[in-house]
Amino acid sequence: MPYPYQIKSYDQYKADYKKSIEDPAGFWGEIAENFTWRKKWDEVLNWNFTEPKVEWFKGGKLNITENCLDRHLEKHGDMPAMIWEPNDPEEHHRIITYKKLYEKVCQFSHVLKNNGVKKGDRVCIYMGMIPELAIAVLACARVGAIHSVVFGGFSAQSIADRLYDAQAEYIVTCDGAFRGAKDIPLKSVIDDALIGNRTVKKVIVCTRTRTPVSMIKGRDLWWEDEIKKVETMGLHDFPAEEMDAEDPLFILYTSGSTGKPKGVVHTCGGYMVYTNYTFVNVFQYQPGDIHFCTADIGWITGHSYIVYGPLSAGATTLLFEGVPTFPDASRFWDIVDKFKVNILYTAPTAIRSLMGYGLGPLQGKHLNSLKVLGTVGEPINEEAWHWYSEHVGKNNCPVVDTWWQTETGGTLISNMAGITPAVPSWATLPMPGLEMVLVDEKGQEIIQEGEETISGNLCIKGPWPGILRTTYGDHERCRTNYFATYPGMYFTGDGALKDKNGFFRITGRVDDVLNVSGHRIGTAELENAINMHSGVVESAVVGYPHDIKGQGIYAFVIYQGSHGQDTHGTAEMIRKDLNQTITRIIGAIAKPDKIQFVSGLPKTRSGKIMRRILRKIAEGDLDNVGDISTLLDPTVVEEIKRGKL
Ligand code: WT7
Repeated sequence: MPYPYQIKSYDQYKADYKKSIEDPAGFWGEIAENFTWRKKWDEVLNWNFTEPKVEWFKGGKLNITENCLDRHLEKHGDMPAMIWEPNDPEEHHRIITYKKLYEKVCQFSHVLKNNGVKKGDRVCIYMGMIPELAIAVLACARVGAIHSVVFGGFSAQSIADRLYDAQAEYIVTCDGAFRGAKDIPLKSVIDDALIGNRTVKKVIVCTRTRTPVSMIKGRDLWWEDEIKKVETMGLHDFPAEEMDAEDPLFILYTSGSTGKPKGVVHTCGGYMVYTNYTFVNVFQYQPGDIHFCTADIGWITGHSYIVYGPLSAGATTLLFEGVPTFPDASRFWDIVDKFKVNILYTAPTAIRSLMGYGLGPLQGKHLNSLKVLGTVGEPINEEAWHWYSEHVGKNNCPVVDTWWQTETGGTLISNMAGITPAVPSWATLPMPGLEMVLVDEKGQEIIQEGEETISGNLCIKGPWPGILRTTYGDHERCRTNYFATYPGMYFTGDGALKDKNGFFRITGRVDDVLNVSGHRIGTAELENAINMHSGVVESAVVGYPHDIKGQGIYAFVIYQGSHGQDTHGTAEMIRKDLNQTITRIIGAIAKPDKIQFVSGLPKTRSGKIMRRILRKIAEGDLDNVGDISTLLDPTVVEEIKRGKL
């Protein structure tokens, strides 16, 4: 068997789970033996959750790209590592073998090195979904630089904040990106982000859209020119930098309940072992299978299950540049048939959006290559689960509902395809190595009695190899965010149910983090952006149930002038101005679905906004806003209710 650690039965899952909890070091140490290490680790695990400090395979020396590329060359160098399907179905797709990918990564590693990139340097990557994005990511890992991929939908201001936080010295970008009918001018956004920047030395620009760009002498370089230099020198290999298992591999920014996004840091060894292990087990990957994860590499799902998990397993990973509805709503199904995709991994929001087009787009599609379907990013409702299973999977493919987070590196709770039971809308069982508990508001572990289903805040008692190690440049923030709410435990920020079988159902965030179409948005961050608009006095943002996006964004805004009508225009015009501000400060993904102008917000006497009341109103549950007697001015509630959108 190609993956000796691939679980093959429910009984084996139970046995492995038991072993992993009794002896985590023994369990993960054995799995880690299946990878290429230049030197074995000194100790499998060393940890405490008070600092917090987590070290896996410390002293072990490796380069993750030797595991993703070099070690596959001999046996299946001619196998496709990556299939790329462009945005426009008329454009030709690309198939890149392991040999070819190895060579391209080596060449770009030389480009990075020639331009001064060294081990530990931070490289910001802001590109569309083209193979060069994965190549840039892997080349950073090969030279030992820390990549920080920023999703192409973020604004110049967001990039500037991230560049500053990471003190990044290099950027890899594209002239532009194709996404559906749109053409996003990435380089131009980077140029704006660099106004006033003092750290960035070089910007490497890959050609994709041929949108006009301004190339600044001494700073900006074309990817293709740099590659040509390496080619003329006849360089095809690049000796990978030797990394410690605990050296940082990447930073990925994500939103929390307070302040600016934080830079989640993952390290080389543990992250590699964990993404590979979960990839192989959750999807039950078999050699030769075509794996299609529809996420963007700008999010953790893309890092773990387009790039590192699949490639470290020698799999064929499919990279799709476009969107599910362009040129029409059969795009995913056409791709599945075109490449005979075996595993399809997408988000509930995409499924719900495609459901809205009816069964027409599925007509005449075979989809008979599919073996496993997966979802990720947000709770999946039963209706969407059944539609996916029935109309896409033809009742013949297990559906895995994978629950995890940017901070967890890989999947923590999920069924394993065809191995452990699937229950619609339940993520079900924890991966081996994970002791998950539910706690009440006071931090008391909720003990299950008999057959009852319990409900509480989801926490984890100990480390797994893929856990974040710190938040970049601010370890204390990591401690307070994840390890201080419930001392001795990692707090996920999610609420969950646990039933008599030990299955978990995730009910959603219990903190001030929204999950809109599977994208994480902090309410505080969004309020800060809204408050920057000159006419805004104050604002409060909450989520509400949304049929397609899972959660929609509802903003309550106190605007100077009377109820959104001032000399600058009508309420509708002011809404557009606010959206423009949000697009500038964060990105278009954070635009509210509803903006209601109010004259006051429900506040306690100490000035705290009672979001609970706003949430009820946004949900439309006007009669159940609860006790409002502690408010400074209870009359605002009536006014807000009357103005509900
Ligand atoms: C939050 C993490 C994991 C990659 C994509 C999102 C929610 C994620 C599920 C699921 C219910 C889910 C949680 C989590 N979430 N997967 N299968 N069922 N909720 O990563 O941006 O870090 O967001 O997404 O609320 O905390 P992220």
